[in-house]
Amino acid sequence: MVERKKTKKKSEKEEVSISDLPGIGPAAIEKLEAAGIFDLMGIAVLGPKELSEVSGLGEAASRKAIQAARNLMKLGFQDGLEFAQKREEVFHITTGSKEFDGLLGGRGVETKAITEAFGGYGSGKTQLGLSLAVNTQLPLEKGGAEGKAVYIDTEGTFRPERIRKMAELKGLNPENVLKNILVARAFNSDHQILLVDKVGELIKDGEPIRLVVVDSLTAHFRAEFSGRGQLADRQQKLNKYLHNLMKIAEQFNLSVYVTNQVMANPAMMFGDPTTAIGGNIVGHASTYRVYIRRGKKSSRVAKLIDSPNLPDNECIFYVGDVGITDEQ
Ligand SMILES: Nc1ncnc2c1ncn2[C@@H]1O[C@H](COP(=O)(O)OP(=O)(O)OP(=O)(O)O)[C@@H](O)[C@H]1O
Ligand SMILES: [Mg+2]
Repeated sequence: MVERKKTKKKSEKEEVSISDLPGIGPAAIEKLEAAGIFDLMGIAVLGPKELSEVSGLGEAASRKAIQAARNLMKLGFQDGLEFAQKREEVFHITTGSKEFDGLLGGRGVETKAITEAFGGYGSGKTQLGLSLAVNTQLPLEKGGAEGKAVYIDTEGTFRPERIRKMAELKGLNPENVLKNILVARAFNSDHQILLVDKVGELIKDGEPIRLVVVDSLTAHFRAEFSGRGQLADRQQKLNKYLHNLMKIAEQFNLSVYVTNQVMANPAMMFGDPTTAIGGNIVGHASTYRVYIRRGKKSSRVAKLIDSPNLPDNECIFYVGDVGITDEQ
């Protein structure tokens, strides 16, 4: 913690910082930093109520601070061209399968969005996460984002040797590929939440992060809030966490990929009796939601669910040594 503050002060000296805003003193700064807000952008994108909650300032003071941050950043209306240019900034990361990319709109997972994969054991959720962590590093013309990946591993299923093999088969240098994946093991849900703040710090330190994988999003939450009467608490915490993920996705133009388990849904008598953990909270927060299951032979079936701008659709893909692929 102490370490973190020291490095922050240094990098913020050159530019206008949140301490230049009216009403934002050391106590508020400390709270803001604890919530993962380090710069004007972090403030400018908040509403007065949200800022008041995280900073401890009153709502009127919060409104003033937000206004000042927006003025300093010249945020406001932008013309259509500017807006289009901002849109163009969005990067895409190929899954490795043309079919799967197609399901997601053509080019794979995108930045400024959360993509969620849910499915049963061994359905391929982790394999997709590992593949994306490699593919993020590819040049733009090969479906990558020329960036690094953060892998938040809650289950201890990150496998360096798997990454190495994928890299080799894609003609990349396995050591470099591994170096460009920053892995952190999250030991409980609080730790998992803290690690998201850390991503902001890495980016401030100059790391070109384009992908954050959280594998699994829900396992810790599910284990820790298993008692009767704890569901509301769990959902609230999960909701806040997802908002933080969306915030870093937007603010830093990166893609968030999360995995989620399923539970048997006894209320469903026909069809596939599985429901994603976290239910609507996760569903609403995810920009793209994909259900993955095993198909015939060794194939996998991915189904896009409730996308705001794409049709519900299915595709078939495979898991191979190279990662996610179209071939068996
Ligand atoms: N090199 C490989 N070649 C072919 N298939 C592989 C390879 N590596 C893994 N798989 C397949 O991927 C499956 C594991 O998938 P994965 O770990 O992604 O599941 P998951 O959806 O994350 O499950 P869980 O919910 O248990 O975390 C294996 O059972 C195997 O079928
Ligand atoms: Mg897994």
